[in-house]
This record gives sequence, C-alpha cells and structure tokens, in this order.
Amino acid sequence: MFSYRHAFHAGNHADVLKHAILLHILHYYNKKETPYWIIDTHAGAGVYDLQDAWAEKTAEFRDGIARLWERNDLPADLQVYIDHIHNMNEDGELVFYPGSPWIALELMRPKDRLHLFELHPTEIDVLSDNIAQQGREIARQVTVFEKDGFTGLKSQLPPVPKRGIILIDPSYEDKKDYRSTLTAVKEGLKRFATGCFAVWYPLVRRKEVHDMLKQLEKLPDTQWVHASLSVKKPPLDGYGLHGSGMFIINPPYTLHGALEKSLPYLAKHLAQDDTATFSLTRQGN
Ligand SMILES: C[S@@+](CC[C@H](N)C(=O)[O-])C[C@H]1O[C@@H](n2cnc3c(N)ncnc32)[C@H](O)[C@@H]1O
Repeated sequence: MFSYRHAFHAGNHADVLKHAILLHILHYYNKKETPYWIIDTHAGAGVYDLQDAWAEKTAEFRDGIARLWERNDLPADLQVYIDHIHNMNEDGELVFYPGSPWIALELMRPKDRLHLFELHPTEIDVLSDNIAQQGREIARQVTVFEKDGFTGLKSQLPPVPKRGIILIDPSYEDKKDYRSTLTAVKEGLKRFATGCFAVWYPLVRRKEVHDMLKQLEKLPDTQWVHASLSVKKPPLDGYGLHGSGMFIINPPYTLHGALEKSLPYLAKHLAQDDTATFSLTRQGN
C-alpha cells in the first residue's frame, strides 16, 4: 500500500495553484442554472488541521498559503481563494485547510453532485467521517467510492446532467500514475467530450512528466489551458518537487485571463529562490 498522506503537503504551493484553479472553475460552473457533477478521482481526507502533527512535521503550508494569508494586494482569483479559506477559519488564524472535496462541497448547489474516489484506508475513513458530520442533506449529494479513481472514472461518465468537472490529482508516487492519468483522460473524453478535465502534476525531473504533457497537448480537437509554477531550482539529485502544473481541458474561457494575473504574482510571492518562474500556454479558447 502506498504511503502518501496529503496532510504533509496541505496548503503548499502546489495546493495553492490547484485549489485557486478549482475555485475558478466552480464559480464559473455556478453561473449557469444547469446542475453539474464533480468527480474527484483522488480525493484525500477532505479537510486538514494545519496544527496537527502531520502537517506541522513538514509545515509546507508556511511556504504556500501562509505567505498569501495577510496580503492585501492579491489578484482577483487569489483573493477569492484566500477569502474562501478565511471563511472556514475563525479570528483570522490559519488552522484549517480544505482539500478538493471540501472546496467542491462549499461551492456546490443542492442540485449538484460530488463523486469521490479514494484508496488509502485512513484517508477514506477520515473523508467519510468528515462528510457524515455535515449532516444528511450534504451526505445525500456525495458518493464516496473506495476504489481506484483511474479505472473508476469511466463508470461515472457521462454525468447525468451532461455537465461536469473532473479533477485528476494523483500523488504520482508510482510512476505508472502518469500513464494511468493519460489513459483516464483519453477514456474520459471518449465518454464525455465536453467535460472539464483538470489534471494536476508535479514538476519533477522525470521523463514520464514530459511524455504525459506531450500526449495531453496532442489530444485531437481539444481546447486546453496549461499552467505551471516553479518555486525553486530543481533539486540536484533529480527528484523532489520544485513546482507543479495544471492541465485543464475544456476550461472556462475566463481561466486563461485570470491566470495571466495570478501566475506572475505566485512566482514572485511563493518563490523559494531567485529561479522561481511560471508558464502559461493554451490551445483554442
Ligand atoms: C494528492 S492527494 C489528493 C489531494 C486532494 N485531491 C486535494 O486536492 O485535496 C492523492 C490521494 O489519492 C489517493 N490515491 C492514491 N492512489 C489512488 C487511486 N488509484 N485511486 C484513488 N485514490 C488514490 C491517496 O491516498 C491520496 O489521498
């Protein structure tokens, strides 16, 4: 069994990028009355206590969300992101950090549905408890699958309302995850060509990352936005995360413009050395 626990990383620079983008997509989807589904193939525990021993051990959030917490010059999307997390904390103190299922739950309307996949036995228990504590009305909107999200995704597509956001956010602990991600996207698009597929990936010096991105960029007849944020020089040993990226297929048309403002800001304020940088490309849209 894999050992990845997201609590170590909650609120780090990669979560900032991923969750700011997720919020942008959800707000955009909420502009239309039509219901939608959110399918999160790698859900995690849902909510994290940044003061507990797991998060404190690495305290990655200190170089992530904590650097933005008190700022008053944030670009619009990052302000939405910080406001969202302020709202789940009392007295302005950063204690709780939402994972992707929680961000989704807070933005969804009663007619929308959230389908979550998680495999880690501890994470799934915490996730299920967290959801149960929200009461019956919320629990009714959510289905948790203790199954492989890569292969389980196709069973959920196309969503009944024919509108949907699919977040694919593996830990990539296993290098096979790169290929599995690509396969899940390709199979997913066959069943649901208009879905918004948001793929997170780590910036690490691995051939598999480049191969996956090349294949994603070559997918026929797709519109996409690709954003990446590097916060420091790649480690000399070749491994270790120095940033992350998000590849969004069928993105809201507003996303690229928002990222043009937020990425330079993140590269400046989340920099861990003077090599921090970003990239932003797109096709169509
Ligand atoms: C990066 S974390 C997810 C974080 C979450 N999406 C968020 O943004 O808050 C990846 C999660 O996927 C789980 N996982 C690993 N392999 C999986 C698989 N094949 N199917 C479903 N979940 C898996 C891990 O236990 C871990 O909790």
